[in-house]
Amino acid sequence: MATSSAGPAVVIRPMIADDLPVAMVILNGAILTSTATFRTDPVDLAERREWLVGLAKDNYPCFVAESIEFSNRESETTAKVTRVLGWCNLSCYRSLQGYINTVEISLYIQEGFRGRGLGTKLINDILPEARKRGYRTILAMVAMENEINVRFWEKQGFKQCGVLRGVGRKFDRWLDVGVYQLML
Ligand SMILES: CC(C)(COP(=O)(O)OP(=O)(O)OC[C@H]1O[C@@H](n2cnc3c(N)ncnc32)[C@H](O)[C@@H]1OP(=O)(O)O)[C@@H](O)C(=O)NCCC(=O)NCCS
Repeated sequence: MATSSAGPAVVIRPMIADDLPVAMVILNGAILTSTATFRTDPVDLAERREWLVGLAKDNYPCFVAESIEFSNRESETTAKVTRVLGWCNLSCYRSLQGYINTVEISLYIQEGFRGRGLGTKLINDILPEARKRGYRTILAMVAMENEINVRFWEKQGFKQCGVLRGVGRKFDRWLDVGVYQLML
């Protein structure tokens, strides 16, 4: 898996159960403060455990971006400090059998660590996994008011193939959802 050379190393690796408390905090931040997700109620650890087990059972990849620092950089033998900064997963788009080659993508980076290339790193590692598993296309569903997200997905090569008008409601607002698609 990839590491970066500047600043703390960032490794992209599969999510494990120990990552769930941090992933839950990141997701709950997005739930409570943004329209990045249309969930409105915070999730708990039991729900997140079930989610991760479900992804593994259905063979959907889920990767975290983790920063790694060593308290003694000379020897790299002393305390290793790691921190999960975000994650990306694929999931079922629709359960009907005819949709089996289509997946939806989710991606969350901890506030304070956005705009540093972590989302791009996660995408760069998850796309080969998607191809390996034989998926044909990936969809990102994006609340159109989130201009940063729109730019992000476009930069990753996703093309807008439609806008669903007013299908979402959060914070007392009707929300349009852009369907962004990447053919693999
Ligand atoms: C959207 C998100 C996943 C992007 O991840 P990221 O690590 O911040 O993105 P990157 O640093 O890899 O940025 C890649 C591109 O996205 C766009 N972008 C990212 N952050 C941006 C910002 N703060 N302002 C403007 N453009 C931005 C830019 O086009 C950027 O390319 P550039 O650096 O060459 O200009 C992240 O901001 C996030 O977690 N947001 C909250 C949760 C969310 O909205 N998830 C997606 C739901 S659809």
